[in-house]
Formats: sequence, C-alpha cells, structure tokens
Amino acid sequence: PTPLRLGVIPGDGIGPEVVAEGLKVLDAVLGGAAVETTHYDLGARRWHATGETLPDAVMEELRGYDALLLGAVGDPGVPSGVLERGLLLKLRFAFDHYVNLRPSRLYPGVASPLAAPGDVDFVVVREGTEGPYTGNGGVLRAGTPAEVATEVSVNTAYGVERVVRDAFDRARSRRGHLTLVHKTNVLSHAGRLWQRTVAAVGQEFADVRVDYLHVDAATIFLVTDPARFDVIVTDNLFGDILTDLAAAVTGGIGLAASGNVNAAGTAPSMFEPVHGSAPDIAGQQKADPTATVLSVAMLLEHVGRVDEARRVEAAVEADLAERGDRVRSTAQVGDAIAARLA
Ligand code: NAD
Ligand code: IPM
Ligand code: MN
Repeated sequence: PTPLRLGVIPGDGIGPEVVAEGLKVLDAVLGGAAVETTHYDLGARRWHATGETLPDAVMEELRGYDALLLGAVGDPGVPSGVLERGLLLKLRFAFDHYVNLRPSRLYPGVASPLAAPGDVDFVVVREGTEGPYTGNGGVLRAGTPAEVATEVSVNTAYGVERVVRDAFDRARSRRGHLTLVHKTNVLSHAGRLWQRTVAAVGQEFADVRVDYLHVDAATIFLVTDPARFDVIVTDNLFGDILTDLAAAVTGGIGLAASGNVNAAGTAPSMFEPVHGSAPDIAGQQKADPTATVLSVAMLLEHVGRVDEARRVEAAVEADLAERGDRVRSTAQVGDAIAARLA
C-alpha cells in the first residue's frame, strides 16, 4: 500500500513524551517504510519565540495529510486559552471535526475506582464544532463592578443533525442503545433542538433504543452504573466533562483515547489522547502513553488499516492485563507495547 502520510503535533508538556511512544508503536505495527511522519513545532515554544499559534500556511499544509496525531497543548507560561483556542480548537473547527469520538472501555485487569463497575464499554459521541466552544459572547463594562460576561452556546440544526446521525449509526453497529445527554430542563432552547433531532433521526433507526438523561444525572450513572451505556451523544461542553469522568472510572485519564473526526472526509481527522499537557508531571517520563497508543489505533482504523488497528489494541490489552501496579517510565510502556507487535 502507499505509505500513510501523517502530520504530527507533539505540542506541550507531556505531549512530546506520549507522542514519541505512539509513533514507536505505529512504526512497530506498520514497519518504518509504510508511514511518513512530519512533525510540526506548534505550541508554547513557538508562541514564545514568534507569537504564532497556528499560521495559515501551516494549517493549509496540515490539510494535506491522511490524518493528524496530536499530543496536547497548553502551558502554564502562556495565558489560558491562547494555545487551546488558537491551535487545538482552531484545528477542530477549520477541519470540521464534528464527531469527537471518545470510547471508554474497562479492559481486563485494569483497576477501576468503582467496587463493582460491571462490563463497561461505551462511546461518547461529543459534538466537536459548536456549543459554547465557538467563542460567541463577550464582555460588557469590563473590569467594572457592572461587568457582564456571556458565552453563547451555538447549536445549529445542521450541526446537531449530523452528529446525532453519526451516533445513531454507531449505536446500530454496537448494542443498539443511544442515550442523549443534555440539560433540557434549563437549557431548553438548545435542548429542544437536540431532542427534536434525536426523535426525528430516530425514525430511521427503529432498531436503536433511545433514552435521555440530564447531564447532572448522567454523572451519577457514570459512577453508579457505567455498564448501562452504549453510545452517548451530547454537546461539546457536556461531552468534555463527561469524558474525563468516563476516563476516571475506566482506569484513568492515561488510558483515554479520542478522535476528532471529520466523518464527511473533507479534511483530515485528528487523533489525540483525551488528557492535556499535564504540566505537573511533564518532562519526567511519568505520563502513561497508553491513551496516545490507543488514539493511534483509532487513527489506523479511520484510515482503513483495520487489521493493524486491531493488533495495536490487542497489544495494549495484553499489556494492560499484565501491568498491575508496576511503575514504568513513559518509554518503557511504549517499548513493552511495541515489543508485542514486533
Ligand atoms: P490534564 O489532563 O493535563 O491533567 C489532569 C491530571 O491528569 C494531572 O494530574 C495530570 O498529571 C494527569 N494526567 C494527564 N495525562 C496523564 C497521563 N498520560 N498519564 C498520567 N497522568 C496524566 O488537565 P489539566 O491539568 O486540566 O490541563 C493542563 C493543560 O492542558 C491546560 O493548559 C489545559 O488547557 C490543557 N489541555 C489540553 C488538552 C488537549 O490538548 N487536548 C486537553 C485537556 C487539557
Ligand atoms: C479536551 C480539552 C479541550 C476541550 C480544551 C483544551 C480546549 O479539554 O480535548 O478535552 O475542552 O475540548
Ligand atoms: Mn477535556
């Protein structure tokens, strides 16, 4: 096959450490010749050096890859939001990553903080381009006692329908159960649009059982009975919060993978761990690279290398089954997973 062409953004903090392990595993499963990677120096270092977050020319170059792999962005030395919005969200919006796919599975041998978690295996389909993330809103009378700050959640019929449809498709090919999570009792303008859309699209998916939870109650059930979920569809902000919680109940944020998917195929999809740059452990080889390795498996599946994706998952699964509470460096975990693929 033609080599896979990947744009790689290691980013900040633990990003470069975990991405190195993801690429190590990718090389092991594909063989060095089958993948061409190009690294992009984007993040805090570049911003300090040049003031740039994501120059237009770089963005256009990134558009040309088969897929993108990102570590994490964000740094305590950069004002909050500059890199998150200027780099990560800019990519998600520009490349129309409307399906933010975040699977949670409790792998055999992995300890959950829950005493009896059950068989946990669900996926959150988080809307990726709208909601309160669009930057709509503003500040009036800034810095005065009468300051007013608004963040307007944008929900379009087009945007909600395409992500809901994607979630129904996934439910159909999984266990046929879709849960809409929202906050319709308070956020009823957007809530009604989501509910109406789920009801309408659901007409075409008679085989999918649909239910609804308010987001606050969803956090209860994610802790008391996470095995009840199959596919959760939700807006951008609720999905962000729920997926950190989902990670925590299925073995920790170091295992949680994600894909920012442009399911229409009009721009490259981008795969990244759910976690951030973890400045508290950066540069110490303490980060668990498993989330990045599993994100690489999602990337492989997305580009049609399904066999290789399954092999990476199997290698991770085998490593998880045996790792127990052994302390290993970031590179040792990557080496151990890669060794199973050799
Ligand atoms: P975080 O996910 O970086 O860290 C939260 C906690 O989880 C920390 O204690 C950290 O040490 C731990 N952790 C994270 N990844 C880990 C791993 N692989 N192995 C072991 N432990 C891990 O979240 P935060 O502290 O809220 O954010 C830090 C920075 O990262 C901020 O600038 C934030 O904006 C940014 N961020 C970026 C992304 C992204 O690039 N996708 C995601 C989340 C946060
Ligand atoms: C994530 C992160 C991002 C988000 C931030 C860094 C913009 O928390 O990928 O989960 O909120 O989507
Ligand atoms: Mn998050």
